[in-house]
Amino acid sequence: MKIADSSALLLLPLLAAAATSVVGADCPSYTDYSSAPHSPASKGKYRIPSMRPPPDCRTFSNPTIEQALSNITSLISDPDWRQLFSNIFPNTLDTTVAWHNANTTSPYTFLVTGDITAQWIRDSTNQMLPYVPYAAMDDDIALLVAGLINMQAEELVGYPYGNAFQPPRRSGLEPAENGIAVDLTVTPPFDNTTVFEAKFELDSFASFFQISSTYWRATGDYDFMYNKAWGQSVSNILGIIEKLQEPTYNSKHMVNKPLVAYNRLTDTATETQFGGGMGNPVKYTGMAKTLFRPSDDATIFPFLVPANAFLSVELYRLSSMLDQIGVYLEMSAVAKSLADEIRRGVFEHGTVVHPKHGRVFAYETDGYGSALVMDDANGPSLLGLVYQGFVDEKDPVYQNTRRMILSADDNPWFFTGAYIHGVGSPHTGFQKVWPMAVAVQGLTSSNRTEVKQCLDQLVATTSGLGLMHESVHVYRPEDYTRSWFAWCNSLVSQFVIDAIVRFPGII
Ligand SMILES: *[C@@H]1O[C@H](CO)[C@@H](O)[C@H](O)[C@H]1NC(C)=O
Ligand SMILES: *[C@@H]1O[C@H](CO)[C@@H](O)[C@H](O)[C@H]1NC(C)=O
Ligand SMILES: *[C@@H]1O[C@H](CO)[C@@H](O)[C@H](O)[C@H]1NC(C)=O
Ligand SMILES: *[C@@H]1O[C@H](CO)[C@@H](O)[C@H](O)[C@H]1NC(C)=O
Repeated sequence: MKIADSSALLLLPLLAAAATSVVGADCPSYTDYSSAPHSPASKGKYRIPSMRPPPDCRTFSNPTIEQALSNITSLISDPDWRQLFSNIFPNTLDTTVAWHNANTTSPYTFLVTGDITAQWIRDSTNQMLPYVPYAAMDDDIALLVAGLINMQAEELVGYPYGNAFQPPRRSGLEPAENGIAVDLTVTPPFDNTTVFEAKFELDSFASFFQISSTYWRATGDYDFMYNKAWGQSVSNILGIIEKLQEPTYNSKHMVNKPLVAYNRLTDTATETQFGGGMGNPVKYTGMAKTLFRPSDDATIFPFLVPANAFLSVELYRLSSMLDQIGVYLEMSAVAKSLADEIRRGVFEHGTVVHPKHGRVFAYETDGYGSALVMDDANGPSLLGLVYQGFVDEKDPVYQNTRRMILSADDNPWFFTGAYIHGVGSPHTGFQKVWPMAVAVQGLTSSNRTEVKQCLDQLVATTSGLGLMHESVHVYRPEDYTRSWFAWCNSLVSQFVIDAIVRFPGII
């Protein structure tokens, strides 16, 4: 995510100061800290600096994670990667746990995205994923993850159409100003002291299910289901997904009143929606509409294929968890049938025949036969369909899609240059590649040479700052966006762990 608005960017240093206030007044703002290199630097070619905040200034410290860090770095021989991994693996814990209530019966965790004092549902799930395996061996990590599940449940019960939320009032943290005025005669009303941004993004629902079932599978703990907000939010979300499958027009050619719309006065096309906020018209396909993408940019056609694919996977996982525990069995049946309908919709309406690559997944469609042929770096993406568990790496449609996505001739948002080659995003403009997409390329490849090339590009493009950026210019790595972007730090950590397990000695 990123707020494209320049007025919001001006506020960042102020917001960051509020985020780090939990670690004491003497601690530097991490927005400042992450914008300059700190010593000692690694002895490798790239002289990767040490970017962890001083121990007293970390927002969450944990001995199991420190042990995991030293276990993993002992398997890395490249000095630059050892330092880079040591910076990025603990980054979410070191810098983004803005508030944590470790009450064992009802824990809560508020994770900021990085340089903005707000919690995105999708980002916070991804920020936490690398630590979930350790929840099984450490109760403090378990409380941290369960706290995030409770927090997201509370946020989504309050306003299911939000993508990013303000700190809860009881945390004592100040709400962040976002300077966004949306038309509340169109968008379902919300309170801007609890909702940071009211963009409806389908993958937020999937991300909430993902952190819930991933945590349960790792630990066997399902206490979070006793939190009233969890069952309520799952029940609300399932009802909302059913409504989002509806076509724009009914059988009498009258307009079906949409559940959610978003209209904003702005001069940036990607920050508002077509049709007075409703989005472009759709026919029934089984897929669910979304107004915004995981980049926080508006969709052009409302059936965003990778978000639907991800949602379908997570609905199956949700249903299987509920069945195995033996609770909420009615919701489980609804989740399963929605998962089936969406999956069928993706295969029946979410692919097109490309003149060069054959049958490929489209990025967005509308059920009328229109389709957008591209991929965006933000996850869930088409490149990541294997990472999300929707198809096997060998799936022929995926293989065709992958060749198309990784081609500067065929994907309008693939860029190649001197330092980095990969998928970018309309969100950051031309010639900027997102390291996140390079990590996903590596995570979804079983070709050692390709995986090594991905790793080499990531370590070469930190702009001397030893952390992952949101985007990097293909010819000028010093031209980047976001020095403190926790989601990408967590994702690249997952990639490194995955790569050294699959290809020992690769770095
Ligand atoms: C680190 O490695 C040691 C030795 O193999 C092992 O006993 C321990 O469980 C590991 N700790 C973590 C957190 O991975
Ligand atoms: C933990 O939360 C529960 C439920 O909100 C509350 O009843 C209890 O008093 C809390 N315990 C502590 C130690 O704060
Ligand atoms: C909420 O909206 C009001 C009215 O537009 C504005 O004055 C206020 O600054 C906003 N608060 C936040 C936290 O954005
Ligand atoms: C593996 O990846 C490399 C680098 O991208 C490429 O040149 C090679 O053809 C790939 N090998 C196979 C078997 O696909």
